[in-house]
Amino acid sequence: MNAPARATGPVVMEETATRIERLRTHLGERLVILGHHYQSDEVIRHADFVGDSLKLSRVAASRKKAEAIVFCGVRFMAETADILSGPDQRVFLPNSRAGCPMADMARPEEVRHCWSELARLWGSDIIPITYVNSSAELKDFCGRAGGAVCTSSNAEEVMTWALDRGKRVLFFPDRCLGLNTAHGLGLGAEEICTWNRESGVLLGGGQATKVILWNGFCFVHNAFSPSDIERLRREIPGIKVVVHPECTREVVQAADDYGSTEKIIECISNATPGSAWAVGTEIHLVKRLAALHPDKTILSLNPIVPPCFDMGLIDPANLLRTLEVVVEGGTEGLVQVEPEIAVGARRALERMPAVTAARELGYH
Ligand code: 13P
Ligand code: SF4
Repeated sequence: MNAPARATGPVVMEETATRIERLRTHLGERLVILGHHYQSDEVIRHADFVGDSLKLSRVAASRKKAEAIVFCGVRFMAETADILSGPDQRVFLPNSRAGCPMADMARPEEVRHCWSELARLWGSDIIPITYVNSSAELKDFCGRAGGAVCTSSNAEEVMTWALDRGKRVLFFPDRCLGLNTAHGLGLGAEEICTWNRESGVLLGGGQATKVILWNGFCFVHNAFSPSDIERLRREIPGIKVVVHPECTREVVQAADDYGSTEKIIECISNATPGSAWAVGTEIHLVKRLAALHPDKTILSLNPIVPPCFDMGLIDPANLLRTLEVVVEGGTEGLVQVEPEIAVGARRALERMPAVTAARELGYH
């Protein structure tokens, strides 16, 4: 006798996907689901918009009809969406534990201490820039201190803007993005120094200093090394390498190109059929690119680098639960930035030219 059919993994997954789609249809334009490129395919298939941090901030700033924005990404992204969306819109993060370890490497009290030490050393002519991977409180700090937010897509533009306004720039939390950006603008090593967050001490620095970097980093992107590039170039002659600017300076220098996740996608999409590429970023995006471009060889720069743990905390089950909460009018997973923090944070975000442009142009 045949055993009764049991709900196996794939069956449950399909049932979950069907229920998510049913709720999406039911909510219609009242709902928008945003998905960062590092999300799994099982989550991405339900997203209305997929993008990097900049693109998704622009969408959050412009989708005024959506009563609920469900952010499949990490906390700082959902907070940014809450700051930029309207007062009647509610932002949800399907798993409230999904944070960003790099963002946690700059705590507001540590940054304030650094800020006052730098002012003691050089006076107040310093502009703070925070990478979007940071708490809302630090964005507020930047907004109130005449600074701005940047993403990996516009870091050069924002750093140029800041250097035009002040003598020096304090850049946090990602040292690699700051270093790659400063060198990309042509600054020399003598013009860049580092603030050590663990010891609360400035390493180097003098009258020539223009950029002070916080020493935070991303565990995922720091795991790639120049030897990965050397090995692949040996094994696959002619292979090209594109990496994210959260990778170390040495990796960026050894690569052929670098840029945000959106720029990496553009680079692979424009590559000639038959070409081979090694990509130095989170594995979910690399695998998606490989599947989308079967006419090219797309490999991870190092396949044993682990995925981003926090991005992986979002899955179809908690996405479904969040949509049920939206329908029920509940608050589970709701992300709400304190109104007094949102004021300065919004100011810092709106100094990113693209966000302001999105609002003015009614970008969809
Ligand atoms: P992007 O803005 O380039 O997508 O990067 C976000 C991020 O967290 C990279 O680790
Ligand atoms: Fe943060 Fe790195 Fe994950 Fe990006 S990949 S969210 S920087 S931990």
